[in-house]
Amino acid sequence: MQTSVETYNDKVVRQLTVMTVVWGIVGMAVGVFIAAQLYWPTLGEGIPWLSYGRLRPLHTNAVIFAFGGSALMATSFHVVQRTCHVRLFSDKLAAFVFWGWQAVIVAAAITLPMGLTQGKEYAELEWPIDILITAVWVAYAVVFFGTIAKRRVKHIYVANWFYGAFIITIALLHIVNNLAIPVGWGKSYSLYTGAVDAMAQWWYGHNAVGFFLTAGFLGMMYYYVPKQAQRPVYSYRLSIVHFWALIAIYMWAGPHHLQYTALPDWVQSVGMVFSLILLAPSWGGAINGILTLSGAWHKLRTDPILKFLIVAISFYMIATFEGPMMSIKTVNSLSHYTDWTVGHVHGGALGWVAMITLGSIYAMLPGLLGQKQMHSVRAIDAHFWIHTIGVVFYIAAMWIAGVMQGLMWRATNDDGTLTYSFVEALNATYPYYLARFIGGVLVVSGMVLMAWNVFKTWQRAPALEPTPVLPPHRAEAIA
Ligand code: HEM
Ligand code: HEM
Repeated sequence: MQTSVETYNDKVVRQLTVMTVVWGIVGMAVGVFIAAQLYWPTLGEGIPWLSYGRLRPLHTNAVIFAFGGSALMATSFHVVQRTCHVRLFSDKLAAFVFWGWQAVIVAAAITLPMGLTQGKEYAELEWPIDILITAVWVAYAVVFFGTIAKRRVKHIYVANWFYGAFIITIALLHIVNNLAIPVGWGKSYSLYTGAVDAMAQWWYGHNAVGFFLTAGFLGMMYYYVPKQAQRPVYSYRLSIVHFWALIAIYMWAGPHHLQYTALPDWVQSVGMVFSLILLAPSWGGAINGILTLSGAWHKLRTDPILKFLIVAISFYMIATFEGPMMSIKTVNSLSHYTDWTVGHVHGGALGWVAMITLGSIYAMLPGLLGQKQMHSVRAIDAHFWIHTIGVVFYIAAMWIAGVMQGLMWRATNDDGTLTYSFVEALNATYPYYLARFIGGVLVVSGMVLMAWNVFKTWQRAPALEPTPVLPPHRAEAIA
């Protein structure tokens, strides 16, 4: 055994971290562009690959899979090595995960603007890319679980449970929802039809939210919040209870995306009931994250990284309160098809997913570069405020626009005719689309500031020496 000389594989973590920032800027810039198209509808007119219908899935794929995916891979590789006190299971496979995932992203960035799509939301990519995703994902699972298998401590830290659940579930969702019959390199037909296809798609879609946009990021929360606050997790028991509750309940909530459709009525009600129950484990986890700061609240005044992390959890609480409410059939009859849904999505995506990611990167990166802190702590603080104001602009505009649209569409006169035409509702929405665009510009500006800060920190870094693996405490070690 060569325990004393073993070092962490931080190279792949650094690579994935840099790409998180790069894809964050690209994906969010595309978001700003399509937000601009909704305000200036002639933008990009006549150029097929700049059309809204092609760029919208490019945005969602870039932010979820390129930005979110790279962040999840980076932090999971960082956390699993530190908490298991070993180097990654295989350097070669880890390198394959990095390059393979980047290849998937580039393939998406080429095929989606070309109009090649399966037409399933968040599963647009055609079958050859799906097969590449499967290969990369299997390699990712082998590296992650292989590292856990060779750990030097008895206990598997809770963050790893969340990352592990995310990896297993995404494999399952990806394969089941993408079963299709290819009829050419860029065209395939789903194996499912009609209502079954819709059900499979939203089982996938909702659990993509639950496991890609939630479980993995809870893994981040459970490692970086205690680390940054220098406090133990508030209740370790609660973290285990809410883990099992969350994964048991999420699976059944998908039908809330299909209220008032051809799906059997009882299935819609099951979706609603499970969504309502989901509030409990979601808030249990969030409260556990926030209370980890007990006795260290004063740090929020001076530490912008903690601000990112704690405000992220607050947005998580907002989105997981709002979601169950929107799943109630009568509420959904108002919110569905409106910008309220888009407001909910970005409360989760920009508030929770993006902020927990940015906070975690700011917490993790200096150590990976042999530094105590980022080049400019003031720039982190500025980023925090620019981002937060941008998100509030975005989601407040969409909430108001959404409720207004819902009410205008359903308003009727005494004789039963509609009070407002669709165009009148659209006209009333325009100011809010401008507000959303401004919010988006602020968010992207914050990301550019972050890229500058990362670059400067890297420039200051000494020649990168590999960090030796920290031996576990004797009481925790596997004999
Ligand atoms: C600068 C930041 C961003 C801007 C300006 C932006 C803008 C937009 C716009 C204009 C849409 C289309 C809405 C519609 O069709 O009515 C959209 C959809 C979407 N965005 Fe973003 N976005 C941003 C960041 C993000 C991030 C960071 C994520 C995820 C991590 C995300 C996830 C999504 C999703 C999932 C949808 C589809 C929503 C649905 O189908 O209801 N966005 N975004
Ligand atoms: C307890 C947790 C949650 C529940 C019960 C829930 C429920 C809902 C409901 C009812 C809808 C509207 C469906 C429709 O009318 O079409 C929705 C949409 C959505 N939610 Fe949530 N939500 C939760 C948390 C979150 C979080 C934390 C995020 C993001 C990180 C998120 C992302 C989304 C996305 C992306 C959509 C839009 C899907 C689409 O139509 O393309 N949700 N959610």
